[in-house]
Amino acid sequence: MTAPLFLTLEGIDGAGKSSHLDALEALFRSQGRAVTRTREPGGTPLAESLREMILNDAMDPLTEALLVFAARRDHIVRVIAPALARGDVVICDRFTDATFAYQGAGRGFDAQVLGRLEQWVQGQGEDGELLQPDLTLWFDLPPEVAAARLADARQPDRFEAQSTDFFRRVASGYAARAAGAARFARIDAERGRDEVWQQVREALAQRGLVPA
Ligand code: TYD
Repeated sequence: MTAPLFLTLEGIDGAGKSSHLDALEALFRSQGRAVTRTREPGGTPLAESLREMILNDAMDPLTEALLVFAARRDHIVRVIAPALARGDVVICDRFTDATFAYQGAGRGFDAQVLGRLEQWVQGQGEDGELLQPDLTLWFDLPPEVAAARLADARQPDRFEAQSTDFFRRVASGYAARAAGAARFARIDAERGRDEVWQQVREALAQRGLVPA
């Protein structure tokens, strides 16, 4: 069995991360890898139902944080952990870094409480080792640029409709998270699409995950 790989994509709304998912999946498949592609909130029928509520229904910050982690728990148990146990590459569009950035930095919810929920939901085995991505591609983009991109987009959800100030806080939440963990690869998402993809490839190649 090849070593499993847990890869996540993060960034503020409008950063363009989702447009590289197809190419990422194809790249790993071309290496003969089995790929499980998924997203958060979501990835299971239950978690997708919760996603609808999280993105559309008004709620207080604790409810929001609990629903995000409830969705994540179901997703880990049913999809992520079994896929990693098979040796798959799991490509997940957002994971817990988004919770620290959006619910934590964005909404101002207590990061220590989020850390306890993280431990509770992602702790594995007897020693409670935290399930964390092996690599996080962090699409970094100034919030003003993201706002201009989103202005042309479809009907905004509850997060996309937030102010540029909210996204400034979310962006600094991501930056703080990235500063504290070696698993982050910063992608300059202000560049053109092809250049962004080149950066993604390089981040993978530098870590020996795909050929250079
Ligand atoms: P997103 O992944 O950007 O999907 P789409 O491209 O379809 O809009 O949308 C998910 C939204 O959920 C995004 O605004 C961030 C938010 N979110 C949180 O607030 N907390 C979380 O823990 C996660 C995973 C996402």
